[in-house]
Amino acid sequence: MQKKIRNICCIGAGYVGGPTMAVIAKYCEDIQVNVVDISIERIKEWNNPDTSKIPIYEPGLSEIIESVRGKNLHFSTDLEENISSADMIFISVNTPTKTKGKGSGKASDLKWVEASARQIAKFSKGQTIVVEKSTLPVKTAQTIKEILESYKYLDTNSPRTFEVLSNPEFLAEGSAINDLENPDRVLIGGNCKKAITCLEEIYLNWVSKEKIIKTNLWSSELSKLTANAFLSQRISSINSISALCEATGADIKEVSKAVGMDRRIGNKFLNSGPGFGGSCFKKDILNLIYICDHYGLKETSSYWEKVIEINDWQQKRIIDVVLDKLFGTITGKTIAILGFAFKANTNDTRESPAIKICEELIIEGAKLKIFDPKVNEIDIENCLYQLKSSPKSVIQSSFEVSNSISNAISDCDGIIVVTDWIQFSEINWVNHIASVRLPCWIFDTRSIINSKLAKESGFKIWTLGSSS
Ligand SMILES: NC(=O)c1ccc[n+]([C@@H]2O[C@H](COP(=O)([O-])OP(=O)(O)OC[C@H]3O[C@@H](n4cnc5c(N)ncnc54)[C@H](O)[C@@H]3O)[C@@H](O)[C@H]2O)c1
Repeated sequence: MQKKIRNICCIGAGYVGGPTMAVIAKYCEDIQVNVVDISIERIKEWNNPDTSKIPIYEPGLSEIIESVRGKNLHFSTDLEENISSADMIFISVNTPTKTKGKGSGKASDLKWVEASARQIAKFSKGQTIVVEKSTLPVKTAQTIKEILESYKYLDTNSPRTFEVLSNPEFLAEGSAINDLENPDRVLIGGNCKKAITCLEEIYLNWVSKEKIIKTNLWSSELSKLTANAFLSQRISSINSISALCEATGADIKEVSKAVGMDRRIGNKFLNSGPGFGGSCFKKDILNLIYICDHYGLKETSSYWEKVIEINDWQQKRIIDVVLDKLFGTITGKTIAILGFAFKANTNDTRESPAIKICEELIIEGAKLKIFDPKVNEIDIENCLYQLKSSPKSVIQSSFEVSNSISNAISDCDGIIVVTDWIQFSEINWVNHIASVRLPCWIFDTRSIINSKLAKESGFKIWTLGSSS
């Protein structure tokens, strides 16, 4: 008989674990959902009575938390208790790129996944379905299964069973709740029909059956890496053409539109910008490259390496333009950085293009005034203090975090629009020209500002992908 899922545990209360479990709790009132994390601080933030202070900013998330937290959604640091009472356990921990040892700089560091598998192996009871939610190298399910099986010798009177499924998450930060509530597809990979049906039944509470795809484990694991590789490739493709537009007099917005109207290509993900950021794209491509190398597929791995190269080059190219326009030197000049999150509608700064751009500007001796509507001062400091290219004392004295757009812009020689926050497209430039040092350049890396108004107000404008 099919098992009824009553208790879910999710290991990892991050950008995926938190929103994903909130949506499951919203649509499955009869399931208790417990999200656990080793970070006491993070769990404390998730339990903050003021839901505007939960650790992750996503449109619509705090409203869901408000309505289900304490009812059927709980955040806790008690892994043992919540794992032991769960019928289904999602592993949603971080899988960053390895920084040392074999595969350093490419392979995924799976130590948090392994630790989760060991915790499950130790504490779970009865029949448990383990679901990979993290993005993992193909064949990781085998590792998880081996760890789980190896602990079975501990079983005395009550034998336990484990089934491992792959259920990668395709949400995009900034639109996570909408993506979770209206997914393009839900992918479930596995070998056990019963376990697959249990997970499918959860999704059927709000997702239609035809959107749920079932595959074998390895196809599911590899599909997530491939999807992220394709998305990054589109960004690098359009960014490479943005440079050609600047050189030739073409306009990237016009080219994107003309190209995207071809139904075979489609119009999504064709905006040029300062390159992709976020915790996933780079690490997932690097992981794909590592796997290709492992299987001796050198041509495939070099193909994907280029996508990362173009991304790095795009950020470097922006700095070259800034230097060129500001008469070849920015030493002692003040530059406003508008936006620090890697994209709009999130407070996530991991791998944000803003970090690389700030790093290069600091090396050149600029003073930075940084404003982001959702990223707090401590997160900005943490990102910049990690940079190794300048001494910490230099970094400390090279930037300040501003509390408003006006504050950031005043007294500056140049303004770089890094993140596509809607607030930046609405800036009334007339109000700012008197407060800057002239001539003042705006470097619009997202093509979002009202450049006509800015020009008429007296600013000089450089727009990425445009020669004008
Ligand atoms: N962020 C995204 O947009 C996104 C989208 C799709 C998939 N993913 C994938 O999902 C996974 C998680 O990503 P994220 O952005 O949520 O990461 P995150 O760093 O925001 O969260 C991971 C959480 O796991 C916790 N953790 C680590 N080891 C643990 C353990 N042994 N026990 C309990 N808690 C533990 C950490 O403390 C952290 O809070 C990654 O594999 C990522 O590639 C991320």
